[in-house]
Amino acid sequence: MHDIIRQLEEKRRLARLGGGERRIENQHAKGKLTARERIGVLLDPDSFEEWDMFVEHRCSDFGMAEQTIPGDGVVTGYGTINGRLVFVFSQDFTVFGGSLSESHAEKICKIMDHAMRVGAPVIGLNDSGGARIQEGIASLAGYAEVFQRNVLASGVVPQVSVIMGPCAGGAVYSPAMTDFIFMVRDSSYMFVTGPEVVKTVTHEEVTQEELGGAQTHTTRSGVADRAFDNDIETLLSLRRFLDFLPSNNKEKPPVRPTSDGADRIEPSLDTLIPDNPNKPYDMKELILKSVDEGDFFELQPNYAGNIVIGFGRMEGSTVGIVANQPMVLAGCLDIASSIKAARFVRFCDCFNIPILTFVDVPGFLPGTAQEFGGIIKHGAKLLFAFAEATVPKITLITRKAYGGAYDVMSSKHLRGDVNFAWPSAEIAVMGPKGAVEIIFRQDSGDEAKIAARTEEYRRRFANPFIAGHRGFIDDVIMPNTTRVRLCRSLKMLRNKSLENPWKKHDNIPL
Ligand code: HXC
Repeated sequence: MHDIIRQLEEKRRLARLGGGERRIENQHAKGKLTARERIGVLLDPDSFEEWDMFVEHRCSDFGMAEQTIPGDGVVTGYGTINGRLVFVFSQDFTVFGGSLSESHAEKICKIMDHAMRVGAPVIGLNDSGGARIQEGIASLAGYAEVFQRNVLASGVVPQVSVIMGPCAGGAVYSPAMTDFIFMVRDSSYMFVTGPEVVKTVTHEEVTQEELGGAQTHTTRSGVADRAFDNDIETLLSLRRFLDFLPSNNKEKPPVRPTSDGADRIEPSLDTLIPDNPNKPYDMKELILKSVDEGDFFELQPNYAGNIVIGFGRMEGSTVGIVANQPMVLAGCLDIASSIKAARFVRFCDCFNIPILTFVDVPGFLPGTAQEFGGIIKHGAKLLFAFAEATVPKITLITRKAYGGAYDVMSSKHLRGDVNFAWPSAEIAVMGPKGAVEIIFRQDSGDEAKIAARTEEYRRRFANPFIAGHRGFIDDVIMPNTTRVRLCRSLKMLRNKSLENPWKKHDNIPL
């Protein structure tokens, strides 16, 4: 018996070595942790249950029969994050560059199937050269099996991808179908085809970093949600992030004890809105002063900054926040911000997370770039997302809510449950200047007349009371009471029940 146990220990030791000492040193030299070290940082101590440590590939081409490594380049299993169950796969770059073989794919699929069955999130730590070239079509089939599960799991359990090395080809498509993507600065890359292929096909010379580094994907493409400085910071941030999410689509969001009272008054909010309606202010101040303990996990902070999205908590319970940001493009909606917010709203709706919408929007961004780029279709995504969402929806208009953008931003007409406005709100079909230029065109040229008409329009329409008269706004509230009113409304909506008509699925404009 002792011999058998010793053999098991030896087998485990070999599996833990992955691609061997030299490759592990290379991994460390690049500032990267190994697949197992990463799991060690991500999960609660001693909570990891590993499966399939002895799985090997079945390829015999290109001399592969002689090169089998137990585990086949991915460490899989389950464990806990702050006591809550999660399933994890962590690709091992020291084994064939973390490339995906048929067996490697089967290991990932196994944990995904279990995660769906028991209703727990799937976290993928990706560090992979894509399809295992030696396996050809078998590895492509493996990818497709993973993709299929990504789609079936979408909206059932949260799926989070962390990009922790060079990820090419199939290795980026699975993350693309998950809910959130985090990257590590300077050591992770995502591209469908790498710089060499780009050079051959388009004659562009581009580095890995420029083509698919964290900077590119968090500021230009919007593919990634957050980037962090190193493996440890990324994994610890992921632990914090997971705390906001329910484990599956049947659960309510987790509740954490908080010492921040629901009756907290914030007098400083009474002076947040500048006297000049064209002067910007930082909407994040409102967010930070509203949520529990100022704890806000922002997503895509450096992409489409004209809209802010992220998670916070109210009375301990997770809320999703969508807010126009007057500091960027005056808070206008454009293609990028509409897509960014629409996907977030849909995530919240899938997972029973109430949505708080803070509105200060002068309208959709005009211009040929937007029209040619399809703002009609992309702006409609956000409209569609808010309109179909059945979770509790609370909206607060702080200042401008003009035109179509008023409708879009979780208005009463899109089944907003509670719609508040601050006294500074201006809710109208368009801003005073634009309105006067159109309806009093005959006066154009007469500056005094135009100024008088503009002032009259501002006085009559640039306020929350016209909407209030019709019940489109439930109440005009004092800014300092915002948190109190939001907390009460959320509590009132705790047992909200609303269902959309039966359908196979909707057809959101893509
Ligand atoms: C098998 C691979 C591999 C792969 C890397 N390796 N990628 N083995 N299949 N796809 C192996 C290398 O042979 C090497 O083995 C080890 O991993 C480390 O690779 P290096 O090239 O030395 O590392 P580095 O310089 O850091 O470059 C990493 C890399 C590069 C950028 C990922 O290896 C690369 O470009 N690989 C190929 C990427 C690719 O084209 N993949 C196929 C995509 S097609 P040794 O033994 O030396 O340690 C695809 C189709 C799916 O994915 C599409 C579905 C939609």
